Amino acid sequence: MAILVTGGAGYIGTHTCIELIRAGYEVIVYDNFSNSSPEAVRRTEEIVGQKITLIEGDILDKARMQKVFAENKIDSVIHFAGLKAVGESVGIPVKYYHNNITGTLLLLEVMQEYGVKKIVFSSSATVYGMNNPVPFVEDMPTSATNPYGWTKQMIEQILKDVYVSDPEWSIVLLRYFNPLGAHESGTIGENPNGIPNNLMPYITQVAVGKREILTVFGDDYDTPDGTGVRDYIHVMDLADGHVQAVKYAERHTGVEAVNLGTGKGFSVLEVIHTFETVNGVKVNYRIAERRPGDIASCYADVEKAKRLFNWETKKTLEDMCRDSWNWQSKNPEGY
Ligand code: NAD
Ligand code: UFG
Repeated sequence: MAILVTGGAGYIGTHTCIELIRAGYEVIVYDNFSNSSPEAVRRTEEIVGQKITLIEGDILDKARMQKVFAENKIDSVIHFAGLKAVGESVGIPVKYYHNNITGTLLLLEVMQEYGVKKIVFSSSATVYGMNNPVPFVEDMPTSATNPYGWTKQMIEQILKDVYVSDPEWSIVLLRYFNPLGAHESGTIGENPNGIPNNLMPYITQVAVGKREILTVFGDDYDTPDGTGVRDYIHVMDLADGHVQAVKYAERHTGVEAVNLGTGKGFSVLEVIHTFETVNGVKVNYRIAERRPGDIASCYADVEKAKRLFNWETKKTLEDMCRDSWNWQSKNPEGY
């Protein structure tokens, strides 16, 4: 059974391809390399020991997607393709809405045309907004505070409406918490362009000497040590969550939002100190002002993923810190 993986050359996509292939699926990666490279897929092939069908293409290119669906027997789609930088989305909202929303609409049109009615979508914990109490439960009200978050919110709504219009669809909206880590080989990992926005790539770049000092955004939150608390999930656990979501979609029609997290929160200082201890390296940091738009705490209620997918995370924060460092130290310049 072939799975079309849009954005499959990216950070979460490559790791998910490994788990899909291990589970016996045929994978077709469709990516325009706007935030990735063919090298990431080549290295993924090395890990799994087989060729992966790789198609360079844009989700905004409907004709190209039609050709892919016409030439392959696609059973389900995992839809990772999208732009994902929160800050950047505030500066170039039209590009974000066009890429993420128009791209998804075109993909759905093509899926309808070819009768493919199973999709697993990369949503985000960002849809829980600023006002819900932790832990976040799937039936809480959702909202957004920036264009990136709105694209996730809007695509979730679009997919819910698609199901209402045609109950043969199987739709899983995966709300990821904070993915960290890399495949244990250290040959693939997160490779941000320019100055990293996220905590772990910033930590690893300071540790490897590419950046001087990490800025900790605020130590006056209502959390045990005052720094922000997040639910960090190992990217290989996240990848396995996708396999379980695909299997679930094969057996059930409907539309379900499902959190993928560990259910446990760690503070910024806990992450820094765990990273230092596990890897025996020093991370220089300084405390600064809060970053606008950040919330104090964000972690998942993980009961639904356990109930629906019989899935839960296996890896620890120590594993995430070790594997992130393994990737970064072996690949200081990325791919
Ligand atoms: P990534 O940037 O590494 O992967 C996204 C991939 O999509 C890239 O390879 C990029 O080249 C491709 N892409 C973007 N626009 C495209 C287009 N128009 N046509 C074809 N390909 C296109 O990001 P990631 O971290 O692997 O995230 C994957 C998905 O998960 C994204 O939708 C992201 O919003 C979502 N997500 C990520 C996080 C996170 O912290 N990494 C958290 C929540 C949700
Ligand atoms: N942080 C720092 N310094 C940095 C970067 C981050 O102190 O240089 C702190 C943040 O303030 C926050 C924590 O580290 O407390 C995690 O921040 P990230 O930027 O790594 O992650 P966020 O939780 O802000 O955002 C992530 C994804 C978003 C997604 C969101 C909710 O990047 O795409 O989770 O799922 F929307």
